Amino acid sequence: MNTTTTMNTAMRHWHLDRDAAGIAWAAIDVADSGANTLGSEVLREFGLILDQLNAQPPKGLVILSGKSAGYIAGADLEEYTRIETMEGIADIIRRNNALFDRLEAVPFPTLALIRGHCMGGGLELSLACRYRIAVDEPGTRLSLPEVMLGIVPGWGGMKRLPRLVGPAAAMDMMLTGKGIDARRAKKMGLVDEAVPPRVMEAAARNVVLSSAPAHRPPLLQRLLNGPLKFVVASGARKQVAKRARREHYPAPYAIIDTWQRYDGDWLRMPASDPSSLQSIFEQGTARNLIRVFFLQQRLKALGKQEIADFKPRHVHVIGAGVMGGDIAAWCVQRGMTVTLQDQTVERIAPAIARAAEGFGKKWRNDKREVRFALDRLIADPGGGGVAQADVIIEAIYENLEAKQALFRDIEQRAKPDAVLASNTSSLKLEDIAQAMEQPQRLVGIHFFNPVAKMPLVEVVRGAHSDDIQVTRATSFVHKLDKLPLPVKSAPGFLVNAVLGPYLLEAMRCVDEGIAPEVVDEAALAFGMPMGPIELADTVGLDVAMAAGKGLTDAAAPPRRLQALFDAGKLGKKTGEGFYVWQDGKPQKQSAAQVPAGLADRMIRPLLEATQRLVAEGVVADAELADAGVIFGTGFAPFTGGPLNYLAARKH
Ligand code: NAI
Repeated sequence: MNTTTTMNTAMRHWHLDRDAAGIAWAAIDVADSGANTLGSEVLREFGLILDQLNAQPPKGLVILSGKSAGYIAGADLEEYTRIETMEGIADIIRRNNALFDRLEAVPFPTLALIRGHCMGGGLELSLACRYRIAVDEPGTRLSLPEVMLGIVPGWGGMKRLPRLVGPAAAMDMMLTGKGIDARRAKKMGLVDEAVPPRVMEAAARNVVLSSAPAHRPPLLQRLLNGPLKFVVASGARKQVAKRARREHYPAPYAIIDTWQRYDGDWLRMPASDPSSLQSIFEQGTARNLIRVFFLQQRLKALGKQEIADFKPRHVHVIGAGVMGGDIAAWCVQRGMTVTLQDQTVERIAPAIARAAEGFGKKWRNDKREVRFALDRLIADPGGGGVAQADVIIEAIYENLEAKQALFRDIEQRAKPDAVLASNTSSLKLEDIAQAMEQPQRLVGIHFFNPVAKMPLVEVVRGAHSDDIQVTRATSFVHKLDKLPLPVKSAPGFLVNAVLGPYLLEAMRCVDEGIAPEVVDEAALAFGMPMGPIELADTVGLDVAMAAGKGLTDAAAPPRRLQALFDAGKLGKKTGEGFYVWQDGKPQKQSAAQVPAGLADRMIRPLLEATQRLVAEGVVADAELADAGVIFGTGFAPFTGGPLNYLAARKH
C-alpha cells in the first residue's frame, strides 16, 4: 500500500486505510491478544467500518490480518462461556448474522485476504465477502471446527458454504471440522486464488477490482443444494451415525437438519426441534466440549514454558520393542534425530521397518522427506547415542534389575543436563532411581499404545525428581505435539489406575454370565469409544492380567480372564481372547438388550478411582484429572470428563 490514508483512529481492534487506488484495507489486529478472535467489541467495530465505508464507498474492501501470525481464529469462546442464558447466545447469533448479511450486501466488491488460520467465525466472515484469496504457505488453513465443540457454524456458514462449494464438500468440512490448505481451497472453489506471500497484496488488488462474478459451483452441486438436498442429507446422516450418537453429539445432526430444512438459518428452527439452538443449549454437550477444549489448552500451556538452553534435538531410545520403536518413530516425525538402542541389530530392524512404513504413509507425496526422516533414525546397538542425547527414554521390558543396571550406566555417560526418563507402566520410579548416584535426574515419560494415536503422555514426578527435569520433560512432550499430564509416581499413575477397576468390573459382569457384546454395548451407549472387553482383548490379556495384579484390590483375577490367559488366548494378538479376531476385528454377535444400570455399574469404579487419585494428589486437581482421563482413555468427551459428569449428576 503506497499512499495510504488512515481513516479512523478511534478503533482498538482494526486499522482502516485507503490507498491511492481507492481500495480500503481493513486490518484486524485484536488488542491485548496473540490471536484475532471475534468478540462483540471487535465485531461492533467492524460494523462501524461498514457504516463509514457505506457513507463513502471505496473501490473495493480488502479484509486482512494485522498480526504476523494467523488470520482469524474464530469466535471469542471465553465470551461465549460467560453468557449464561440461551437468549444471550441467540442475541449474538442474530447480531452477527445481520452484520455478515450487511457485509455481503455492500455496494462495492469485498475480498478476504487469508494468511494463516482462518477458522469458524473468521471463515464465516470471509464467506460473506465476494472474493477470497488464500496465501499459500504451511500455516494457512481454512476450517469450520464448530462441530468439535458441539456447536454449529451459525454465523452464516451453514448457508453460504454449501452455496459456494456445493453441499457435499461443505458437509464434509462442517461435519468433520477439518482444515483445508490454500491449494486445496482453490481447487474446491473455497477461495478464488492461492498465491505466494510476496504477491498477496498485488493479487488482492487485482481480484477485488476485477469485476469478476463471484464463484459458483458446477450445476450438479447447485441442484444438490436445491431440489436434490435430500440425497446429500441422507448420505451425510449415515456417515455421522457411524461416528456419533445423536443423544451424545447432536451438533452434526443439527448442521444437516438446518441446512436441509432451513437453508442454513438456525434461528428459524422451532425450539421444539431436537436440532434447535434451544435443544442444543439444554442438552449440555456443547458446554462440556468447550470445557474440554479449554482443558486441552491448559495442558498445552504446561508444556509451553521456555527453558533456557533446552532444545531437544537428539533423543536416545533404549528398547526397540512395541513402545520404544514407536516412540522413536514419533520423535523422528517431529523433526528430532533419534538413536535407537536394543540388545542386537536384529531387534532394532523391525522397529525401523515399521517406522519406514509410517513415514511412507505420512509423506506419501514427498520421497525426500521420507529419506530425511530415515536418515534421522539411527540404529545404535552399542548405545553411543547416550553421550550426545538431550533426552534419553528407556523402554526396555518391565524388569526392575535390568532398568536399574541400565540407568546406573546411563547416568555416567549422559550429558549433565540430559533428561533421563523411564517409560515404565508399573515399576516404581523410586525403586529404579535407588540404584542411581543422582536419583534426582530420573523422571517418567509414560506414553500410551499406540503412540501415534494417543494424544496424552503422563509426565511422572518421582519422590526424588528435580523440578527442572520435570519441566524439561513436560516441554519435550509438548514439542512432540502431545499433551503432557503431570502426575505423581503411584501405581498406574492416573490413566491406568482408573482403567484398571473399570475393566475389572466389566470382566466380573462377564463372569456373571452377561455376554461380552452386551457389556461392550453398554459402554458404547454410555459414550465410551470402545467397549471394555474389546479394549482388554486389544491391549492383550497378559497385559490385563499383570495390570490387574497391581492396580485393583481384587483378590483373584476374574475367572474367564484367568482361563483365557491359561489357554494362551491373549486377545487380538493371538487371534482369540474374549472374542475371536479376524482381520484385526472382533467377531461379535449382535448384542441382546442391555440391562438397566449396567453402564453405571461399570463406570462407577472409574469415577471413584478418579476422585481418589485427586484426593491423594496423584493428579493436581479435578480439571487435570478430567483432561487426563478424556485424552488418555477416550472417556466420553461430551460429559466433560468423569468428575464433571459426577458433579452434573448430583445437580
Ligand atoms: P517389548 O517387550 O515390546 O520391548 C522391550 C524391548 O527392550 C525388547 O526389544 C528387548 O530386546 C529390549 N531390551 C530389554 N532389555 C534391554 C537392555 N538391557 N538394553 C536394550 N534393550 C533391551 O516391551 P514394550 O511393550 O515396548 O514395553 C517397554 C516398556 O514400556 C515397559 O517398561 C512397559 O511397562 C512400558 N509401556 C508399555 C506399554 C504397552 O502398551 N506395551 C504402554 C506404556 C508403557
